Amino acid sequence: MTVLVLGGAGYIGSHTVDQLIQRGTDVAVVDSLVTGHQAAINPQARFYQGDIRDKDFMRSVFQQEKVSGVIHFAAFSIVPESMQAPLKYFDNNTYGMTALLEVMNEFDVKHIVFSSTAATYGEPKSIPIKESDPQVPTNPYGESKLMMETMMKWADRAYGIKFVALRYFNVAGAKPDGSIGEDHHPETHLLPIVLQVAAGKREQLSIFGDDYDTPDGTNVRDYVHVLDLADAHILALGYLEEGHDSNAFNLGSSTGFSNMEIVEAARKVTGKAIPVTMAPRRAGDPSTLIAASDKAREVLGWTPQYDNMEAIIETAWNWHLNHPNGYTDRG
Ligand code: UFG
Repeated sequence: MTVLVLGGAGYIGSHTVDQLIQRGTDVAVVDSLVTGHQAAINPQARFYQGDIRDKDFMRSVFQQEKVSGVIHFAAFSIVPESMQAPLKYFDNNTYGMTALLEVMNEFDVKHIVFSSTAATYGEPKSIPIKESDPQVPTNPYGESKLMMETMMKWADRAYGIKFVALRYFNVAGAKPDGSIGEDHHPETHLLPIVLQVAAGKREQLSIFGDDYDTPDGTNVRDYVHVLDLADAHILALGYLEEGHDSNAFNLGSSTGFSNMEIVEAARKVTGKAIPVTMAPRRAGDPSTLIAASDKAREVLGWTPQYDNMEAIIETAWNWHLNHPNGYTDRG
């Protein structure tokens, strides 16, 4: 039986595909390559290029593969872009889920592990954020993913498709051998931009807002290493295979780092000055996002291996040094 990974050419998808293959799982990947890179996909996975909204294309994949479960990463995920182009998010992300669930139901595939996000919570009322807290997104990206969670809930009721929604906090790092990593065009995420400045690829970093209600005034985020995140997907699939009911889990470390603390840690790891200027707040950014992460640890048995920010940054820096221009295929 095969695990079908949608969005397996992306940052988190490619690390998960690689981990699945390391553990002897048979993997097929679907990716449109709109944001992903073919070079990121472990060559032992079978690759189908196409869009999950194209139901005929997806039917042909399900016809060719004996799919036991789906891991779904195929979505747009840039908060500021979603503020400018909300319908792009509802089309690709939300409609994409409708099409996917329809085809899964046609082929009687009953398990899906879904990349959800802390952005579904919006501006939290209390920290750390628990899975049972209200989900009130402050940007269209978070809203599109909340709608996807809702669709899965009702598809479970109607068709018995069981799901695990994994609500990621901030993901960072790369496979330690430097062979795969994070490569977005354009890059909007904090740590890769910090490392591009350290590598001399950008002149400086703008920090978006230093007047938040946080200890140093900059936003606070909770970082998880991409390999720990990949591991949680594999555990979640096992959880569904054991016959458990649908569920949602935060994936975070329960520790917050301010944007300035990330810069400081990157200065230590890289030995570079990393010049910073303060800029206005970015639309749609919640002030502080820190996960309560005990549920994933207790229920899934998730035990993250990386609990040190500098160690996480070191793996990302290693990727940057090995691939100064990212993937060159621009897939
Ligand atoms: N930031 C800067 N300067 C930059 C880039 C980012 O100051 O040049 C700041 C942002 O304003 C924010 C923090 O760095 O305060 C982190 O921003 P990212 O863009 O790296 O990540 P986000 O927190 O916006 O979003 C990420 C994922 C989402 C996910 C969210 C959940 O991209 O998919 O984490 O916490 F939903």
